Amino acid sequence: MKLTSNKRITVSLRTRDIISITPVCHHIVAGDGAVCRFRLDSAVDVGCGTGLSTRPLCEHFRHVIGVDVSETQIKMAREAHAQTNLSFEVSEAERLTFIHDDSTDLVTVAQAIHWIDQEPFYKEVERILKPGGSLIVYGYGNCVLDNDKGNQVIQRFYRHDLHGYWDSRRRHIDNLCQEVRLLFPGWTRNSDFVIQYRWTAAEVVGYLSTWSAWQSYLKQNPESHLLRDIEQHLRDIYLDQRVGITWPVFLLLGRKAPTS
Ligand SMILES: C[S@@+](CC[C@H](N)C(=O)[O-])C[C@H]1O[C@@H](n2cnc3c(N)ncnc32)[C@H](O)[C@@H]1O
Repeated sequence: MKLTSNKRITVSLRTRDIISITPVCHHIVAGDGAVCRFRLDSAVDVGCGTGLSTRPLCEHFRHVIGVDVSETQIKMAREAHAQTNLSFEVSEAERLTFIHDDSTDLVTVAQAIHWIDQEPFYKEVERILKPGGSLIVYGYGNCVLDNDKGNQVIQRFYRHDLHGYWDSRRRHIDNLCQEVRLLFPGWTRNSDFVIQYRWTAAEVVGYLSTWSAWQSYLKQNPESHLLRDIEQHLRDIYLDQRVGITWPVFLLLGRKAPTS
């Protein structure tokens, strides 16, 4: 199976401090640069969170379902996205019993495969996909700054200050899910995409503050100045310039055998 891409996704500057997988999702399914062609009837986004990875699918598929194990995430997703062709369900990825056999053209998993028990999940994917339907597992790795000194500041925070605060599954993000294998024969891996932003120092620090390891660290060190110090370091390094920040994207694509 051939995976095509435009080599690079560059996301233009936004005044927001979270990284979004949305542009990658758009790129997978839309327009001339689409990674792959699908029948655009039904899509299921598993581990959908608040729906950032689900919403773009509605523009292309007739019916879209976002699935997440967290009731809180699904409540937020329902409040944030009200498209008529979109619904959200609380469910484990490993038990998608509410979805019919051979009913789905595309299953996506964005930044969530490392949380999922893969063997039972792949059985469910095989069951719900139509013959010839596709599974796309994708996400992004660790960020890199465009200035060595700035990058060292972030790496120290990630690897030294937050050491011991990351979940052990974080290694899958560190290695861009190299250990993840799809079950479909002939599945492929694509590493051509990147996400890029140009942020202020405050926006970078806003992003760092969303890291789960930082949230855990903060519970034990509520008076910590770490992020304030990092912001000042970045200001000293970048002066008036924006911080160029890049994430490598991994993308695994598999397809259920078409019926002969
Ligand atoms: C990092 S978030 C990704 C959210 C969204 N896909 C995005 O890209 O913005 C991972 C999500 O996977 C969900 N999750 C974890 N384990 C799951 C499981 N076994 N079944 C379904 N969802 C799961 C979590 O609740 C969380 O919302």
